[in-house]
Amino acid sequence: MTSIAKSVLQKHLVEGTFEVGKEIGIKIDHTLTQDATGTMAYLQFEAMKLDHVKTELSVSFVDHNTLQTDFKNPDDHRYLQSVAAKYGIKFSRPGNGICHQVFLERFATPGKTLVGSDSHTPTAGGMGQIAIGVGGLDVAVAMGGGLFYLKTPKILGIKLTGKLPDYVTAKDVILEVLRILTVKGGRGKILEYFGPGIKTLSVPERATITNMGAETGATTSIFPSDEITKEFLKMEGREDHWNEIPEGTEEDYDEIMEINLSELEPMVAKPHSPGNVVKLSELYGLKVDQVSIGSCTNSSLKDLETVATLLKGRKIHPDTVLGISPGSRQVMTQLAKDGALANIISSGARVFESACGPCIGMGFAPKTGAIVVRTYNRNFFGRTGNKSAQAYLVSPEVAVAVAVYGEITDPKKLGAYPKFDFPKKIELDDSMILDPAEDGSKIEIIRGPNIAPLPDFLPLTESFGSVKVVIKVEDDITTDHIMPAGAKILPLRSNLPEISKHVFEQIDPDFAERALKEKPHGGGAIIAGDNYGQGSSREHAALAPMYLGIKFKIAKSFARIHRDNLINSGILPLTFVNPEDFDKLDLGDILTIPNVKQSIRDGIKPIIVHNKTKHLDFKVTYDLSDRDREIIVLGGKLNYASQK
Ligand code: F3S
Repeated sequence: MTSIAKSVLQKHLVEGTFEVGKEIGIKIDHTLTQDATGTMAYLQFEAMKLDHVKTELSVSFVDHNTLQTDFKNPDDHRYLQSVAAKYGIKFSRPGNGICHQVFLERFATPGKTLVGSDSHTPTAGGMGQIAIGVGGLDVAVAMGGGLFYLKTPKILGIKLTGKLPDYVTAKDVILEVLRILTVKGGRGKILEYFGPGIKTLSVPERATITNMGAETGATTSIFPSDEITKEFLKMEGREDHWNEIPEGTEEDYDEIMEINLSELEPMVAKPHSPGNVVKLSELYGLKVDQVSIGSCTNSSLKDLETVATLLKGRKIHPDTVLGISPGSRQVMTQLAKDGALANIISSGARVFESACGPCIGMGFAPKTGAIVVRTYNRNFFGRTGNKSAQAYLVSPEVAVAVAVYGEITDPKKLGAYPKFDFPKKIELDDSMILDPAEDGSKIEIIRGPNIAPLPDFLPLTESFGSVKVVIKVEDDITTDHIMPAGAKILPLRSNLPEISKHVFEQIDPDFAERALKEKPHGGGAIIAGDNYGQGSSREHAALAPMYLGIKFKIAKSFARIHRDNLINSGILPLTFVNPEDFDKLDLGDILTIPNVKQSIRDGIKPIIVHNKTKHLDFKVTYDLSDRDREIIVLGGKLNYASQK
């Protein structure tokens, strides 16, 4: 016997051996993108100059930037649609639903591998799929037939026993996992569920758990594929996609933890971290201004049918507002057909389209200082669209109780717990999922003015002759500091020249202009303290500086994902051999590194940097694998993948 994760990974193993911590290269069967990351992923795929994707299945979703307040988002949608048609990618139109919910319903397949340019791609792990959230460039490479490389993770077996009591849900299971593991405890691990308790959980419930497993920092999470999986696939008219993947046993795991479902109670994650979990009862009586139900975590048919039943004949409390976004058009249609939608509407809830919407502060930002309760997976500072709001994460059942009573309260006050049985059959309508053209060569890609061509990724030069320090920053700079997000900047993700104007704008509004000025004269360097580039995996925090002509960054240390993104973008991540040298550098200093290409190609370290302005030398080093060094020499991962 072996763990499910290991057996699926081993079936897809092309390079390396399965040894914890060692790098492996795996073949990818499926890819998904959403629009906010997808535009860049497809620009990168186009740069690979292939006629067709090489994956079994690739799907492009539009669910993030669905608000159309000017030309940018609709232009991006049209671009995505034309790229999909040309290169053999399915296109899920805006309004069809949130990528992970739709993927689970229509595409997820036990035993397959999936990479998606969205951190909640592990949702498909609820179906027994190895599903990993990655950067857009990794998706582009996978679509081009390239391997996905990762460090072999440890497998943490999570044994579920017992059965959830009424009003205790899958959301409470993952909140309990987060309470135990915290937001760091899953790093370098795959969370694999086993034990008798899993038989009590439907596929969407399992998917709620694997979706929010991303918040532990885990590589992914996975459930077995059993009769329950088969039933779900049968309802979706995809029984032929089922194959059995039996659960593992205790000896298959590197670590084990156990959760007795019968002993759980409703939980809540307090502001501003999904790992800040306490028992709901500790917060009874807290007045709430706004409630949101939906997101890729909790917007399945089961979730929303339960919500509708609980809302039936009830009204929303006058001091709170309730917004509901069904996860997919399939869910919305079913709710409409069986009358559940009428119960939701009669309660006074506001119904939004099937999209991410309020999860990223789009269209339902709360009032100043609001207390907000959401069924989502993240409650980071500012995520609601209002930096003064405090967001709490709960199950849909608890959210209904809060909306009805206007405060955090015991959901049992809503009466007997409604039992939901999945219908044997639902109406299947994939008309909002467009198939690619049979002959892609006839399709012309449509680019509006918001789609800027990718710049050239230049190979590493022999030497860095004269590179100016264009910014010096202290410790713990996040990718948000480097490349801010938000409703104004998000639509610029397909436009590197425009989005790069916002790099570091919160710290140093003149940065972009200054860096760009240096671009024709040898480019710029960034000097940073410890843990540079922590936070979100945002690949634009590397791509935009690359566009501005940044050649290398010297830091006391780098956050791992940002370091990887720098390598992928062809920016050399260097670290000080003596951290005190940080203090000897200033904005405007001119640095030279002779024979840098040879040093990197041959793995020579340390490297001597000469500070022309201060007339002194200092040593830097790097932590790059053989493959990383090759990528840097070639000018980034895109050039590397094209060559391979
Ligand atoms: Fe969308 Fe929020 Fe999920 S932005 S993909 S609903 S985490």
